[in-house]
Parts: sequence; structure tokens; C-alpha cells
Amino acid sequence: MNFLNRPQKTKYDKSLFESRRMIWKSGFFEPLIEEICVRIKSGPTSKNERMYILDAGCGEGSSLSSLREKISAPTTNDFLGIGMDISREGIDLASQDNTNLIWCIGDIANSPFEANQFHFILNILSPSNYAEFKRILTDDGRVIKVIPEKNYLHELRNLFYEHTDKQIYSNQKSLERFRDHFKLLDVKRIQYRITLNSTLIKPLIQMTPLSWRATDMQLQQLLDANSKTITVDLAILLGKPH
Ligand SMILES: C[S@@+](CC[C@H](N)C(=O)[O-])C[C@H]1O[C@@H](n2cnc3c(N)ncnc32)[C@H](O)[C@@H]1O
Repeated sequence: MNFLNRPQKTKYDKSLFESRRMIWKSGFFEPLIEEICVRIKSGPTSKNERMYILDAGCGEGSSLSSLREKISAPTTNDFLGIGMDISREGIDLASQDNTNLIWCIGDIANSPFEANQFHFILNILSPSNYAEFKRILTDDGRVIKVIPEKNYLHELRNLFYEHTDKQIYSNQKSLERFRDHFKLLDVKRIQYRITLNSTLIKPLIQMTPLSWRATDMQLQQLLDANSKTITVDLAILLGKPH
């Protein structure tokens, strides 16, 4: 389904989404999804109520499909998952191999959904529109937003942004903005290091906007490695409307 009036050209292209999918499939984000799953299972829906979940800025769909797999045990609530992204390339890939989920091309700032629909909005490493999120959440709904912490992919940041003001990242503004709009119920920081073998180094480079400003020499330096240990450092914000 396409809800955009006209196509949006973004820098998120097919190879970025294919690379993101390879990295997701390697288990790189597994601890993150486990934590998100815990928050969803203890969410606001009552037993037997169908849960409506929107993944806003879902990319190529791996986050929502991993959740679908984890939450589909017969003892937990049924859920209707919708993934929305502004990029056609992302949604094309998402719709290829997922069943029981709905994928649509749409803009977070102007979503096609009626008010008070969703029990959860996931927003993983993607832009937000909090007015819109509040409109489409149920009164007791929850937003789960994932933002980078300062050491997220810091091996890449150190290499690509050495001696620039981008070498050190702070999520303080994102956190404040979230708190302005939602009652912050919980913040969980997850940190781990994961070693990627040589076949995953190129996808790692291609999956992140951090590489967009890298020089050929910096990229080659990474590509020449046999393996690379990478830091994952993320914060999961859980909020509900004030
Ligand atoms: C870094 S990617 C994260 C994708 C996915 N959540 C993941 O973790 O793999 C950011 C995503 O936000 C999407 N995006 C950017 N602006 C958007 C908007 N206004 N509406 C919907 N999606 C948007 C991009 O197309 C891209 O897929």
C-alpha cells in the first residue's frame, strides 16, 4: 500500500536496506528485540484483546518480523503489526518475505491511520512525529523509541569523524524532546560488543548513514579487516501520553 501523494527520494536506497537486513539477520540487534519484546508483553492490552502495533520508520521490516516471531506464542495476545516507511525500497523488501504483517509506504508526519488505533508505536533509530504518534495511540498506548547512546558504532564514528565535532554523539536532545511529549515510564540502556566476520563488514558500512561522509581510504581500511568487533549502545525509551 502506498499512502504518499508523490514518491519521496531519500538517501536510504536498496543497498542500504539489503545491508540492514543482513546485519539484522546476523543477530546484531537480537538483545534489543528481546528487550522490546519484554516491554510489549507487559503492555497495556488486556488478555485476549488484539494488540495493534505500528513500526514507524520500519525500514526493510526485520524489527517487526522478529517481534512477530517472538510474540506469536499461543499464550500471548494476538497482534496486528503494521510497518510503515517513507522509502519504497524498504517496503518492497519488507513485503517480500513476511506474512501476517501489513506494510505500507507512508510519512510518519502524515500517517493514513485513524485516531486512537495503536497500543504500541515502535520507533527504532528513525525520525519521529510526536503529535502524530499521540493522535494515533490509544489513550493508554505506549511509544517504544530506540535512540543511539554515545558509544553506538563508535568504532565507525572514531574512524570516520576523528577530530570533528561529530566524533562524540549525545542523545540528550532526543531524550528531552521525548520527555516533552510523553510521560517517560522507563529508560533502558543496552550495551554489548559483537564481532562481525569479513562478509558482514561491507553490509555494516552500507547499513548506516554514518558512512555517507567516509573517504574511500577510510572505507578500505575497514574492508581490509578479517573481522571487526563493533559496539552496540542503545537506549530504549518507554513512554505514554501525558
Ligand atoms: C536508520 S533507518 C532505521 C530503519 C529500521 N527501524 C531499522 O532499525 O532497521 C531510518 C528509517 O527511517 C525512515 N524514515 C525517514 N523519514 C521518515 C518519515 N518521514 N516517515 C517514515 N519513515 C521515515 C527511513 O526511510 C529509514 O528506513
